[in-house]
Amino acid sequence: MIIHNTSDSIQRALLPFFKKNKSIGFVPTMGALHMGHISLVEKASIENDCVVVSIFVNPTQFNNSQDLEKYPRSFKDDVKILEDLKSNIFVFAPEVSNIYANKIISKKYRFSGLENKMEGKHRKGHFEGVGTVLNILFRIVKPNKAYFGEKDFQQLQVVKKLVEIEKLPVTIFGCSIIREENGLAMSSRNKLLTKIQFNEASLIYKTLSEVQQKFNVYSISKLNNIVKERFKNRNLLKLEYFEIANIKTLKTVKRKRNNNTYRAFIAVFLGKVRLIDNIMLN
Ligand code: PAJ
Repeated sequence: MIIHNTSDSIQRALLPFFKKNKSIGFVPTMGALHMGHISLVEKASIENDCVVVSIFVNPTQFNNSQDLEKYPRSFKDDVKILEDLKSNIFVFAPEVSNIYANKIISKKYRFSGLENKMEGKHRKGHFEGVGTVLNILFRIVKPNKAYFGEKDFQQLQVVKKLVEIEKLPVTIFGCSIIREENGLAMSSRNKLLTKIQFNEASLIYKTLSEVQQKFNVYSISKLNNIVKERFKNRNLLKLEYFEIANIKTLKTVKRKRNNNTYRAFIAVFLGKVRLIDNIMLN
């Protein structure tokens, strides 16, 4: 498998696809690939003539330099996993300098307020960084379709807004969350957990499932209290936020209304490892 490290190289490889009007699917990642990523690649390869998988740990979306430093990297394994899929895959793994030249800064974006809620509130500048790198990657790869996981549901909504703002000719697809056997959403960050932490982290999905089951019966404030209660006095888990939000605006909901669709969102610390998850409620 040829790895393309520069935008010139990937564009040269994709030229025959552009010329023949073949469809290019795109799966942007930060590497440390797992079955969640692979599910996106498989969907993209069914729906397109070729798939570009980018592996790029994007510095501008990290609000904490330690988090960036310790972000898991396993490039060789990633390439092997993609090779084993035996699909028409191009790997694009650029250097930071190829994406940002010498200015590692984010573009100023407003995503209609989506960027200020939950992840945006707790990780200042995160979505500006995500928007900046995706805008650059989309302009290099020029995909027809791009695939994102609902694991990062807020990111998925922000990306749809970015495509509108930047008028990018790409269709965005959301894909379901892939989970470990204990229910924990797969994440590159799971690799940073000890075995005990990994087992404890199953409480995240267990609690989300409980909220989903009780959604029609209890009020929002009662559900919020149940979640607080579940995470109270847990030595290894620290709840950062739990919110039930409208899926379109991502605004926190205080009272349910008919005809609105809601999701529950959660962020939890296990030591220094921060995990997020979400679930559909109605
Ligand atoms: P990363 O965390 O590597 O995730 C890449 C893609 O895989 C995202 O669309 C994410 O939602 C999806 N994904 C991760 N875990 C998943 C799971 N368990 N089930 C389904 N999909 C899952 O998200 C990023 O990278 C970056 O922000 C990026 C978009 C690449 C921009 O830098």
